[in-house]
Amino acid sequence: MPAILGSAVVLVAVGAVWYLKSMSPTSANTENPAQVAAGKGVYRDNCAVCHGANLEGQPNWRERKPDDRLPAPPHDETGHTWHHPDEHLFRITKFGLKPPLAPVGYETDMPSFEGSLSDEEIWATLAFIKSTWPPQIRERHNILSGRQIKK
Ligand code: HEC
Repeated sequence: MPAILGSAVVLVAVGAVWYLKSMSPTSANTENPAQVAAGKGVYRDNCAVCHGANLEGQPNWRERKPDDRLPAPPHDETGHTWHHPDEHLFRITKFGLKPPLAPVGYETDMPSFEGSLSDEEIWATLAFIKSTWPPQIRERHNILSGRQIKK
């Protein structure tokens, strides 16, 4: 294939990937004010009731309740949300705590939002949650998520 044609094919492919990505975000970008603002509203309407208006979680969140289930943990830097990479947080929110991210038959009060929130809304919520973390925690989480931010 002539080089010029090869380059054209590559350009079209790169363009298509870019276009699809811009249509449906696949990351939680704390540097994107519009995404963070959208996520703040989604969080308030869907998550705050359990995870707290200020992301503080439920009281005594480390201790199981009488029904043996765990309370909702905080999403601020005092919890363990930032120990999980982006992809896991997305899957937990979309599908709930199901295998492989939880044992088979695991009983939990964490709902799955598949069907009530779009992927865009879930990523936006995660962008908002992450935007509240101190810079060092955000940086460690970015590294954990395999997406190192160059400074
Ligand atoms: C009905 C209460 C409830 C609502 C509403 C809720 N959660 Fe949860 N969530 C929980 C509980 C309880 C857990 C802990 C579950 C466990 O470990 O068994 C949890 C755990 C999680 C985890 C795992 C966190 C970690 O630190 O391991 C994520 C991520 C999460 N929730 C995100 C969300 C998001 C985002 C929303 C809103 C879109 C939301 N949750 C709404 C109850 C809720």
